[in-house]
Amino acid sequence: MVTAHAAPRAQVLVASNRGPVSYALKEDGSLESKRGGGGLVSGLSAIGSDVESVWVCAALGEGDREAVRRGVGETGVRMLDIDPAVFSDAYNGVANSVLWFVQHMLYQTPLEPVFDAEFRRQWASYEAYNRAFAEALAAEAGDAARVLVQDYHLALVPGMLRSLRPDLRIAHFSHTPWAPVDYFRMLPDDIARQLLRGMLGADRLGFLTWRWASAFAESVAGVLGADEGEWVGSPGGEGRVFFRHGVSGERAARETDLAVHPLGADGDFLRRRAHEADVEERMAALREQIGEGRRTIVRVDRTELSKNIVRGLLAYRHLLDTHPEWRERVVHVAFAYPSRQDLAVYREYTEEVGRVAAEINSVYGVPGWTPVVLHVQDDFARSLAAYRLADVALVNPVRDGMNLVAKEVPVVSDSGCALVLSREAGAVAELGDDAIVVNPYDITGTAAALHAGLSMAEEERAERTKRLAVAGTAVPPRRWFLGQLEGLGG
Ligand code: G6P
Repeated sequence: MVTAHAAPRAQVLVASNRGPVSYALKEDGSLESKRGGGGLVSGLSAIGSDVESVWVCAALGEGDREAVRRGVGETGVRMLDIDPAVFSDAYNGVANSVLWFVQHMLYQTPLEPVFDAEFRRQWASYEAYNRAFAEALAAEAGDAARVLVQDYHLALVPGMLRSLRPDLRIAHFSHTPWAPVDYFRMLPDDIARQLLRGMLGADRLGFLTWRWASAFAESVAGVLGADEGEWVGSPGGEGRVFFRHGVSGERAARETDLAVHPLGADGDFLRRRAHEADVEERMAALREQIGEGRRTIVRVDRTELSKNIVRGLLAYRHLLDTHPEWRERVVHVAFAYPSRQDLAVYREYTEEVGRVAAEINSVYGVPGWTPVVLHVQDDFARSLAAYRLADVALVNPVRDGMNLVAKEVPVVSDSGCALVLSREAGAVAELGDDAIVVNPYDITGTAAALHAGLSMAEEERAERTKRLAVAGTAVPPRRWFLGQLEGLGG
């Protein structure tokens, strides 16, 4: 229901778990705000100040909650202060430990997943958290406004919002992969159905590649069956693809479009940012750590279980084993930034990354040469410095919706960089021709690809890098965002 605190006027609304700004509570009791980056932030800036917009997001920590309590906040941002226990069940319990695991196929299936009473309890929180978003959006949206709901955290929002405000035009965008139907069906049937029906409450469902969009379409057909509707059109082909609801059922006919918007890197921003003084400083420091005249293999990731950092290190180790000519002539610069440290399995994985890196250094290192330089402290300027210096970029996720690092490195590379890219990253659809494509589980294959990258002739490397940069910046965030908005009608 629309609450009467103010006349709702927003014409464009974005909803995502993590918002564009966060607050830290300092010791003296003051609040420090920090603006985030990412595709949505620069995308939303493209709509112009004459269009009223609201971004609904969750208060993520104590600082955010305090900001909500004090009424501190940015215009156009509405942070929801959801009960911390409910938030934790929804975010850590369901979104990150179940939905993320399913879409990235991360379960070790002899023991996991376990959908027990505890999961059902957490699921109720996920519903409550989605409902809080739907209600806030319903209260903020002007007549026939366009609403862009983001990701697996908010899969139920489109359906809930549609019943609160049938006048709205609703899109949902998945930034993750979508699992094959047989894997997706691991979810209890009622939950799988609820998720799909929730998303199908939207007028338009966006994915990063046709591979994920098709998998979604197959999940709908396999889990919901023909009674609820049917797909029209062929994913990836010419023309519109949509789900026609209620073909043989009772429900009023309605259509949900399936669309693909492959997010690209922000070329203009990156080229400018990568030449600022702090990046130059970091380059000097990195050059010192790497040592004169050595090649560099770079990886930059959040330490997600899906990023496959450990196998990347093992591939590098195998390279040093099988190609001793590279010893003392190459350094693996690995940036593994903290992520989701509230989850034990993420903490353990982070430790494993550190352990394997240390082991390689102790086995192969010699005075004056450290084979792996691992940094875990997030530093964007240093990431850009590494991008510029890289001879080879290693992007080997076991599964990834897109992977922007693969698209960013070629844009800022100083002298050309070979890209070793997993065939399981969404980015392979656009970059596959000029990358060295690997099976991310294959350690020896990945080691061979690293060797091929290091050995690639300079001219070829430069040519490929140029083409990769063009392909990787084809849909910059602003265009990506506007594309989704246009998809909902003018
Ligand atoms: C990755 C995914 C996004 C997701 C985000 C959430 O970046 O590609 O789809 O929204 O993780 O991360 P968080 O740190 O907020 O859990």
